[in-house]
Amino acid sequence: MVMSALPGDFPSSKAAARMIRVNQAGEYGAARIYEGQLAVLGNTPVASLLEHMRAQEQSHLDTFDRLIRERRIRPTLLSPVWHVAGYALGVLSACLGEKSAMACTVAIEEVIDEHYARQSEDLEKHPDEIELREVIHRFREDERQHCEMGIEHGAADAPAFKLMKGVIKIASRTAIWLSTRL
Ligand SMILES: [Fe+2]
Ligand SMILES: [Fe+2]
Repeated sequence: MVMSALPGDFPSSKAAARMIRVNQAGEYGAARIYEGQLAVLGNTPVASLLEHMRAQEQSHLDTFDRLIRERRIRPTLLSPVWHVAGYALGVLSACLGEKSAMACTVAIEEVIDEHYARQSEDLEKHPDEIELREVIHRFREDERQHCEMGIEHGAADAPAFKLMKGVIKIASRTAIWLSTRL
């Protein structure tokens, strides 16, 4: 059945709905990673930095939660997976040390930066999606700052940095691929 949009509805293209779904999933996972890292490193000098990043991920998540509600988009079916996997990744990376926790942030933010850049580019074809484009632009800046903070706090000195970064980047890209579809 084809339903036409009613006044007050927020009709969004299929493409925008998919973007919001995957971004909500990603920000949810990100918030869970920092919760996991804080559970291990909550009493260390990096705790305030982790808390700062966690709070920003939570505000990103709040925005995508709102867009999901307003536009009546189905959230990803994988939320329970990201709930556990995000937290587990946070705990594991933090158990390897503060620098490994930072390496985890750098790996993820590099993937998110590419991901948000691609979405921004795609949204240039959707002039009706200015709000979404601005949101993505703003969050992308935050994510790049997280990446820089990770580097400043010694990410590259983490043991097996390149290997760890490679593995987490593959996992993040897989999570994005899945959350766009499921
Ligand atoms: Fe974020
Ligand atoms: Fe981030």
